[in-house]
Order: sequence, then structure tokens, then C-alpha cells
Amino acid sequence: MPFNLEDLQKAMAPLSQFRALAVSPHHERFSFPFFSGTYFTYRKIDVMRVVAIAQSVSRDPSYLDVGCGYGDFLKRVREFLPKATGLEKDASIYYGLGIEKPDYISISDAHWIDKRYDVIFVGWMEPGQDFRDSVARNTDVIITTLDQGISLAAEFDGHSFERIAWWRTPSWEDVNIEIMNKYYSSIPAKQREALSKMRGAHNFWYVYCRPEKSGQVRKAIESLQEKDEQYDFESVLDELGFARMQKLENPAAPEPLWQIQFDQQDLKRLQTGL
Ligand SMILES: C[S@@+](CC[C@H](N)C(=O)[O-])C[C@H]1O[C@@H](n2cnc3c(N)ncnc32)[C@H](O)[C@@H]1O
Repeated sequence: MPFNLEDLQKAMAPLSQFRALAVSPHHERFSFPFFSGTYFTYRKIDVMRVVAIAQSVSRDPSYLDVGCGYGDFLKRVREFLPKATGLEKDASIYYGLGIEKPDYISISDAHWIDKRYDVIFVGWMEPGQDFRDSVARNTDVIITTLDQGISLAAEFDGHSFERIAWWRTPSWEDVNIEIMNKYYSSIPAKQREALSKMRGAHNFWYVYCRPEKSGQVRKAIESLQEKDEQYDFESVLDELGFARMQKLENPAAPEPLWQIQFDQQDLKRLQTGL
């Protein structure tokens, strides 16, 4: 990436073939994340966490999803934050493929954000893209997802922001591999089990705030009362061993999936006022 139109057109053909043979209509969002889902795997609790964070800073929050692609996650957020908008640099993902662009997504480069938002969300950003200065200038609260070791430009510690909380979700690649191994290959079950022990589940969600906002945002996260509601497609995650609070066998990933972790540095500052 960045994409060129020819590549995008070429990628549509395997998606059509996949649709014709798919075992479940929910598989394509993990196997073709750009067209049908997101590069970060999410559940409804992620949407509700993001919404609660936004509502902790304003009753009617403004919210920008940077690099939103087709806006799969943004659409979910808009069910609760109707003013939420998206920014996408590449017009050809819409116009070049004859896909209608919703009015709430603007075509522009994130380096040129020119308005302040209560919350800016930066979903999975490809390596080489770094518009942290512009994002940091235009908000006090940033939520990012980053694929470990790939999209480091999503870290805002050096921009006068504190990371106050984070949680781990599966990488879409791990989910895709499980789907492919289980439903679209003839790998024996025993071998599949052995392979699945290697999963690293390395997608992180980070919540960054300016210090003056961290108390209220932390409180909102601490008082979340998470329900069991879920989107239809989450059945795929449950069935393939990516349940909520699931512990993975990989020692490099000790925290259960989706369990919120609070950063102590921010807590210490809040307690001591220093
Ligand atoms: C890896 S895709 C992720 C799309 C979506 N957030 C997701 O997770 O599925 C990155 C998206 O960011 C867009 N993008 C890259 N650089 C950008 C920039 N400087 N400003 C706005 N969008 C950008 C790309 O065109 C692409 O649609």
C-alpha cells in the first residue's frame, strides 16, 4: 500500500470467487479485510469502549476516524455517535471501483486535518505513514490500533499524550489463517491444533489522552459495564478460539484477549498530582 487502482481491481476478482464458495458469509471480513471488514479485529465491546471514551469527554462528541477505508468500523460507531466522520486519502477506492462514498467520509490527507475533534481514532495504519503531529494537534484523546511491530507510527507518547489503557485483540491474519486451515484446506485436526498454539494475537488498542483529560477517561473505562451483546460475525471468533478473555498459549501474549490493562504511570500521576 498505498493502493493503485489496478491492484484494487485485481483484488476484487478473488473476492467474488471466494463469495461463491464461502462456507460462511462472515468469513470474508477476515479474509478480505480491506473490502469487507477492517485490518483490526473488533467486537461490539470495542465499539462500546470507543463510544464510552468519546462520551466521557463530551455529551455530543465529535469523532474522526483517520484512514477509515470503506468505514466498516466507523459505520458501527455512528450508530451511537451520529456525528462521527471519517477521513480517507485515496479517492480511487470509491470512484475507481464504482463504490458509493458516504457523505460522512471526506477524501483528504491526514497531514492536513484542520479542525479539532473530541476524539481521533487511528485504525490500523500501514508502515511509512506518519501523521502523528497533525492528529496530536487536533485532539486531546486518541485511540489507536496497532499491529505489533508494524504500524509503530500509532504511538503518541512523545506528543504530550499519556497512554492510559490498552487491550489486546487477535490479529486479522491469525483469524484468517484459522479460517483457511479449518474450512478451506485439508490439514488434519491435530496439525491444525498444533499450528494454532503459535498464535500471537498481536493487535493492540491504545488509549492516549492529554494529562488533563486522563482522569475522566480513565473513570469512564473503569466504570464500563460490558454486556454480552455481539455482532453476528463474532461467532467466527468464538468458534476459532478467539473468545473474550481467552488466554492464548503463546507466552509472549499473556494477557487474556480484550482484557483492559491500565497504565500505572498515568495512575501514579493522578494519585500524587505530580
Ligand atoms: C491499512 S488501511 C486500513 C483501513 C481501515 N482503517 C481498516 O482498518 O480496515 C489504511 C487506510 O488509510 C488510508 N491512508 C493512508 N495514508 C493516509 C493519509 N495520509 N491520510 C488519510 N488516509 C490515509 C489508506 O488509503 C487506507 O485506506
